[in-house]
Amino acid sequence: MSIAKQLFGNLSNGEAVSLFTLTNKNGLSAKVTNYGGILVALNVPDRDGKFADVVLGKDTLDGYISGHPHFGATTGRVAGRISGAQFTLEGKTYQLEANNGHNCLHGGLNGYDKLVWTAETINDHGIDKLRLSIIDPDGSNGFPGTIECTVTYALLDDNTLEIAYTASTDKTTPFNLTNHSYFNLKGAGKGSVVDHKVQIFASSVATTDEDATLIGRKDPVIEGFNDYREPVALSARKELVGGNADIHFFLDGGRTRLPKAAAIVCEPKSGRVMETFTTEPGVQFFAGLCLAGDLGKGGATYSYMGGFCLETQDYADSVNFPEMGGAILKPEEPFSSTTLYRFSAK
Ligand code: GLA
Repeated sequence: MSIAKQLFGNLSNGEAVSLFTLTNKNGLSAKVTNYGGILVALNVPDRDGKFADVVLGKDTLDGYISGHPHFGATTGRVAGRISGAQFTLEGKTYQLEANNGHNCLHGGLNGYDKLVWTAETINDHGIDKLRLSIIDPDGSNGFPGTIECTVTYALLDDNTLEIAYTASTDKTTPFNLTNHSYFNLKGAGKGSVVDHKVQIFASSVATTDEDATLIGRKDPVIEGFNDYREPVALSARKELVGGNADIHFFLDGGRTRLPKAAAIVCEPKSGRVMETFTTEPGVQFFAGLCLAGDLGKGGATYSYMGGFCLETQDYADSVNFPEMGGAILKPEEPFSSTTLYRFSAK
């Protein structure tokens, strides 16, 4: 494993932003910027050993600053939707920015995806890792409590991208952290992912209303619609809508100390396989329904469903529906979680 650093660009205030390249012994590489903790590129081989970049993104820092649908971003303080952009905690009501209909999505307008993280390379038991950290102050985006948060990226020699998180707070606050990478196992910009076969180890989903608002309901998966317990090509589904292509799955096994299998996605032509493991109790599966010819890396355009996300996380609106999940950070309970995306080909 090696980690190289280069300049990615400068913010309007002159601050320099870096791009780190992590390479493992098999030649896989991952590029990560400390702007937004964004995974910019991920090069993995197909069954013939041919490499492709399998994550959607932008070529330049300015490309990210101009706006994008959370490509590869570290997403917080609360990934997902807080209904009504409002919550009451310990007797106090907090009003957040409604940036998605009447909901607050992905931590608000200045979420973790737009922060410049402090970067350092560390050696963890002989493995070089990139550690990014922020201090997210009390009151930012309307949330209570100062959070200290780290996200650590490593590209392991078994072709696993490891993303590990830690966080602590001085006041109880909603908290739900994820990585929002859009994957296309044919290669970013190589068309739609409808031919990908998806398997998700979940027997129940978070039901929403028609504008994706969480309503505090958990329901069993429905065969032929949002049941992905057996591998299914997305194209085999009669329709792909919010209820089966932008939905929170409660993973069988719940929150775990060690990462458990969450999902397996295969792309038949290249043979590429991505296995997802996580300690988190859930995953938001999002099949890129928002993409519409967005301009991406190397002049590529990302078409409708040009990438899928497996955003490992807890139930986003736990603060309003505590029986649904534990996406709350408390001073006495520091947070840590790990997600692994493991690549192979068959
Ligand atoms: C999440 C949401 C989607 C969409 C994307 C874009 O996956 O569930 O509805 O908003 O983020 O950021």
